[in-house]
Amino acid sequence: MGMDPAEIRRYLRARRLGARIDCLAETDSTNSDAARAGRAGAPEGTVVIADSQRRGRGRLGRSWASPPGVNLYCSVLLRPRLPAEESALLPLVAGIAVAEAVDGSTESRAGLKWPNDVVVGGRKIAGILCEMEVDGGAHFVVVGMGVNLNGDRESFPPEIRPLATSALLETGRPVERARFAADLLSALDARYEGFLHDGFSALLPAWSERDVLRGCRVSVRVGEEVVEGVATGITERGRLRVESTSGAREIVAGDVTVLGGYRASAGRE
Ligand code: BTN
Repeated sequence: MGMDPAEIRRYLRARRLGARIDCLAETDSTNSDAARAGRAGAPEGTVVIADSQRRGRGRLGRSWASPPGVNLYCSVLLRPRLPAEESALLPLVAGIAVAEAVDGSTESRAGLKWPNDVVVGGRKIAGILCEMEVDGGAHFVVVGMGVNLNGDRESFPPEIRPLATSALLETGRPVERARFAADLLSALDARYEGFLHDGFSALLPAWSERDVLRGCRVSVRVGEEVVEGVATGITERGRLRVESTSGAREIVAGDVTVLGGYRASAGRE
């Protein structure tokens, strides 16, 4: 049984998101469903949530384990009237919103690992996959969010167990999924609104205060190249700054490995 859209609406505080909420029991990927809806002309703010996914997708061609009934798998269709380059910042905008919703259910301060992992106590609790499609002169973006809520350690594939956590593992208490979905969509609605009005530079402080990489030694895979150095924050264009032995670098897209662990307080405040 899928979640109940009426239950989500009961708690939802949003202007743009949630006019249409589809809750499915099972699907291949909510991102694929939302993109299909986008191609068919569905309005901005259409939401697709599934209880489980057969082919949940992560970044960089990875899969996203999606066991039934315990977590949130949610995709939101956005139609920002912005240059595509600006819309490319939406994963960072969504990261702030997911972290804010996670705060409420874990009684912690969730951290952000560039570009868009949400971490608590140094372990990943949520991931974001944004996919953009050009549609005539305009484009739409599907913001896909996977949040580990009520899974125990065994709910994760063995290889990611040491790196992952859930709200239940953090607090010992289960999270009401419909309530969490409403909190997440409300937070995303507010952050998206701010982004449209004031741009990402206005959101940069909110992102930076959760940045768990700042001051860490990192190794970043950028295509075939590996950049090693100290992460020093992100720019107004959403790029990761790394001080490497060969000088300062600004990285547009890449996969970050933290060398020697996060700073002690990262994602715990
Ligand atoms: C990542 O960290 O690699 C991103 C994971 C994104 C997973 C979510 S779950 C809902 C939506 N549907 C998908 O197939 N992927 C995203």
